Amino acid sequence: MRIDIITVLPELLESPLSHSIVKRAQDKSLVDIHIHNLRDYAVGKHRRVDDYAFGFGAGMVMQIEPIDRVISKLKAERNYDEVIFTTPDGEQFDQPMANRLSMAENLIILCGHYKGVDYRVREHLITKEISIGDYVLTGGELPAAIITDAVIRLIPGAIGDEQSALSDSFQDNLLAPPVYTRPAEYKGWRVPEIFLSGHERKIHEWEMQQALERTKKLRPNLLNEK
Ligand code: ADE
Repeated sequence: MRIDIITVLPELLESPLSHSIVKRAQDKSLVDIHIHNLRDYAVGKHRRVDDYAFGFGAGMVMQIEPIDRVISKLKAERNYDEVIFTTPDGEQFDQPMANRLSMAENLIILCGHYKGVDYRVREHLITKEISIGDYVLTGGELPAAIITDAVIRLIPGAIGDEQSALSDSFQDNLLAPPVYTRPAEYKGWRVPEIFLSGHERKIHEWEMQQALERTKKLRPNLLNEK
């Protein structure tokens, strides 16, 4: 898989994508991440990528020209499954969407900024608009990092134990059961006795029951989803 991220703040993406599973997936060539500084595609000597909005609204808007330049260049080199725009009014990101995106060959993610982007970008260049939740961040870089992280960890081989991606919370619309490790007792707080029994089937049944109970209690809406 290849992910091209277009941003005015490359520095914001460097750290989240340079550690742990996401780094290892790149080292193993499971994913190729390319970060493009939109300013490199700006026109004029001031390398501006934004301008005042038409009309009477305050604030700056990202211009179409540099965005079209970088997207057109990338699309001339290969086919993309989706050209994504991160925006609070997009479709809400969730685990099924991460699952679908993890099967893509090539993705572009354009990070939104300022007051928004010239709407013609969304009308003509973008194929998918994604929000990571109903709140407004200062820019689309953190959402892009979140989407990239959630997608990469689903690529087969990205996490050591492949089973563990399938047993994540939200897969099967269930929250994950509690996990514990040694010591079995700390300050008098004991791990559930079932774990000390070594009885695999019973432990599994306990985990299923806990997953169901936690979902009913914490996120009952998940149980009504398909
Ligand atoms: N840009 C600003 N806020 C955002 C959000 N919640 N989701 C995606 N992109 C954003």
